[in-house]
Amino acid sequence: MFITIEGIDGSGKTTQSGRLADWLSERTGRETVRTFEPGGCEECAELRRIILEGRNFSPEAELLLFLADRAEHVSKVILPAIREGRNVVCERWNESTIAYQSSGRKLDPDRVKDLITACGFPEPDAKIFLDIHPQTALTRILSRTKHDKFEDEGLTLMRKVSDSYRELARRGELMRIDCEGLNEEEVFTAIITALEGVSELWQSR
Ligand SMILES: Nc1ncnc2c1ncn2[C@@H]1O[C@H](COP(=O)(O)OP(=O)(O)O)[C@@H](O)[C@H]1O
Ligand SMILES: [Mg+2]
Repeated sequence: MFITIEGIDGSGKTTQSGRLADWLSERTGRETVRTFEPGGCEECAELRRIILEGRNFSPEAELLLFLADRAEHVSKVILPAIREGRNVVCERWNESTIAYQSSGRKLDPDRVKDLITACGFPEPDAKIFLDIHPQTALTRILSRTKHDKFEDEGLTLMRKVSDSYRELARRGELMRIDCEGLNEEEVFTAIITALEGVSELWQSR
């Protein structure tokens, strides 16, 4: 089982991915690899450093760097795990690229989607979107010490990205979990309830 978790910074992806990985291992009787983008392998960490360290890349170059990170991550982590019969829980995937690089950076969404399709990345079994108000997320982020380039761009970008995720959820491309006002345990329960509700996910497993 390959599950991705999406959402703006501060939405709870890292918090929930650990719980979800433990639950998935138990539920399926298979080991679960927990990973993230950008930077989910050694070579990817190098790309992440370049992307996030604050250089002023053109939107097109930035998009290609994120796709390079995904291509490397697929090759080094995700496909090997799937081939060995492990589950994968990954923070961020194609929908992050659509939300941040097309809506956030004003690239033509159809071109971004065409490029993603051309890459031929594996399709997740389920794609979860942790939906939270940008202001709530920003308040959580500001209580952290270290900020990266994208987090520093603040509320305007977060609103655009959030709207883009919601649109993808409306079109059925993401499973939306309304996280506003829920504590970590309640969000986790909502994720599990949503996953258990998709009977096709469990039929042949
Ligand atoms: N449901 C929640 N309610 C309140 N705070 C939360 C909740 N989920 C996560 N947090 C806190 O918010 C911050 C951001 O969570 P994190 O999982 O790191 O988000 P992300 O990985 O999406 O950026 C962390 O300090 C975390 O402890
Ligand atoms: Mg995180």
